[in-house]
Amino acid sequence: MESKNFACKTTNVIYGSISEKYEIFEKIGEGAYGEVYRGFDKERRRIVAMKRLKMSSGNRLPKVCLREMETLQKAQHKNVIACRDFIQDEKSLYLTMDYAPYDLRTLINRTLSYNMKFEPEEVKFYTVQLLRGLSHIHSQSIIHRDLKPSNLLITHKGILKICDFGMARNFSSTEKLYSPLVVTRWYRAPEILLSYGKYGQPIDLWSVGCILAELSLMRVLFPGTSDIRQIYSIFEALGTPSEAVWPGYSELPIVRKTNMVQFPSSKVKAVFAPLTDSGYDLVTRMLTYDPNRRITAKQALQHTFFGEENVLEKPSTESDHREKKKMPVKRKSEDAESHPDEMVPKKRTWRRGDELRM
Ligand SMILES: Nc1ncnc2c1ncn2[C@@H]1O[C@H](COP(=O)(O)OP(=O)(O)O)[C@@H](O)[C@H]1O
Ligand SMILES: [Mg+2]
Repeated sequence: MESKNFACKTTNVIYGSISEKYEIFEKIGEGAYGEVYRGFDKERRRIVAMKRLKMSSGNRLPKVCLREMETLQKAQHKNVIACRDFIQDEKSLYLTMDYAPYDLRTLINRTLSYNMKFEPEEVKFYTVQLLRGLSHIHSQSIIHRDLKPSNLLITHKGILKICDFGMARNFSSTEKLYSPLVVTRWYRAPEILLSYGKYGQPIDLWSVGCILAELSLMRVLFPGTSDIRQIYSIFEALGTPSEAVWPGYSELPIVRKTNMVQFPSSKVKAVFAPLTDSGYDLVTRMLTYDPNRRITAKQALQHTFFGEENVLEKPSTESDHREKKKMPVKRKSEDAESHPDEMVPKKRTWRRGDELRM
């Protein structure tokens, strides 16, 4: 196979037939720019995930795909999915990655379907890993721009891996306007919803706040069905912002044009009632309207929420739920567990303390 530098300086693309190096199995995901398959790396003898990105006319990759490759490579960390190869054949470009059999959306849905919820320590266990990955991504001057449960993969050992850098971009602190069409609506920060193109890394912390709340409350925090409903769903829970809580709010394009309904902020405590005092404090620091006052990933990692005494021997997981309920294993893909070459412990071996102490 021939290796060449492809369109962007940092990314080495191998030209050749994908089947020389990989076997392709079934499709496991589908998105805007391509499909994701489970596959097998013949050299490393490991199960992998392969994202096939469609080429546009003239055999060129859309700019977003180049961004995905570049940012993913730059973001490498224990809590970011590891990318292995970029292989281009005649029609497509394959991005191969380590395979993770679960994602947080599936775990939330399964847990709900068993009428169960996450233990407080599990919530911390996943949140702390998400923040570690995000803190690293941000230190590399990247904004992820699409954090949500289905983009958070979970390995057999319970390690959370941020994936899907399809929306990610390098962040520069210059006064640049970015696209407002980013972040899945339910996890989208108010500065994007209110057409403020000058957003930055704080938008990712808003998404983390929504995810932390979802894990604690076992429901989507702000499930808006349109942009305006999304805004009002946020305002209803947190109170309509004002110049006092968000300097510059009244100058935001949509606010200037619209007579915003005024909701009081008195309900906030009730919305997050299941959280401990420190959980409430952290989530409201993440869901702070003013992006300049919103907590950063690095600061959030120091928050007392993660130092609270509330130790579980081992976070209960989907496999525990299955054991308790005698449920059959049913996931998006089963074969990884049975594949002889996949290094998978038969039983989950992680301990909550391991992650929190790391
Ligand atoms: N490395 C991976 N291991 C296992 N599944 C993956 C992996 N990468 C992606 N997937 C699955 O494919 C889905 C879509 O991939 P993603 O990168 O999020 O692309 P998009 O959402 O842009 O289509 C994910 O939600 C996940 O279920
Ligand atoms: Mg995705």
